[in-house]
Amino acid sequence: MSRSLKKIRFGAFQSSRNNVGFYTKKILPCLLDLAMTRPELGSHRRQLLSGVTGEILEIGFGTGANLPYYPKHVKEITAIDSNAGMTPFVQRRMKARGVQVKHLEADAHALPFPENAFDTIVTTWTLCSVENLDRVLHEISRVLRPGGKFYFLEHGRSPEGRVFRLQRLLNPLNRTVAGGCELTREISTQVKLAGFELERLENFYIEKFPRTHGYMFQGWARKSP
Ligand SMILES: C[S@@+](CC[C@H](N)C(=O)[O-])C[C@H]1O[C@@H](n2cnc3c(N)ncnc32)[C@H](O)[C@@H]1O
Repeated sequence: MSRSLKKIRFGAFQSSRNNVGFYTKKILPCLLDLAMTRPELGSHRRQLLSGVTGEILEIGFGTGANLPYYPKHVKEITAIDSNAGMTPFVQRRMKARGVQVKHLEADAHALPFPENAFDTIVTTWTLCSVENLDRVLHEISRVLRPGGKFYFLEHGRSPEGRVFRLQRLLNPLNRTVAGGCELTREISTQVKLAGFELERLENFYIEKFPRTHGYMFQGWARKSP
C-alpha cells in the first residue's frame, strides 16, 4: 500500500475513533440526562432508595439522576462511572442536593475498593450496559460486606414472547446507540446465580416506556452473612 493511502486510511480510522469519543463523552451524557430524569422514573427511584443505609456505593452513577431521591439521612455516598463525560452533570446535581459524592471514574468489572467495604450497593439502569454481567455481580459481592444489601432497579427481558422477540430484533441497534445497552438480560436470575439471596423482587412495565425497554426488575438481594 502506498504511503499516502496508508495516511488516508489511518486518518479515517482516527477520526472515527474521535467521533466515538465525542459521542460518548459529550452527546451521550446529554441524551442520558434527558432520558433518565423523566418524572415517571422518580417514584421508582424514591421507592428503591428509601431503605438504603450505612456506607453506600452506587455503580454506573451516570449524571447522578438518583441524587434527589436518596433519603434525607444520607449525607455522603461513593459513586463510580466509566464515562468521565458524566462528571459536569454530577457536580451540578451534587451542589443542588447537598449530598457529598466521592465520584470516581472506574470500571464496574474491577472495582477499586477492598473486600467488604460497603453496607449497601445500588445500581439503576446500569446492569443492561456492562459488558460482563457475571463479572460485575462478582465484584459487587466482593466489595459488599457479609449481610449487606444490593439494591437494583434494572430493565431486561420481558416474559411476553411477542415483546421478547422484538427485544431480540432491536438489540443490535440499541447496543450501538445506547452505550452498549442490552434489552434481554434476566436480571433477577443472574443475581441469584451470582450467589445473592433475593429478598424482594417486583416486576412491572414502567409507564410511558415502550415495552421492549420498560420491563423492570426492582428489589434487593443480600450477601450471605
Ligand atoms: C443508562 S445509564 C444509567 C445511569 C444512572 N444509573 C441512572 O439511573 O440514571 C448507565 C450508566 O452505566 C455506566 N456504565 C456502563 N458500563 C459501566 C462499567 N463497566 N463501569 C462503570 N459504569 C458503567 C454508563 O457510563 C452510564 O452512565
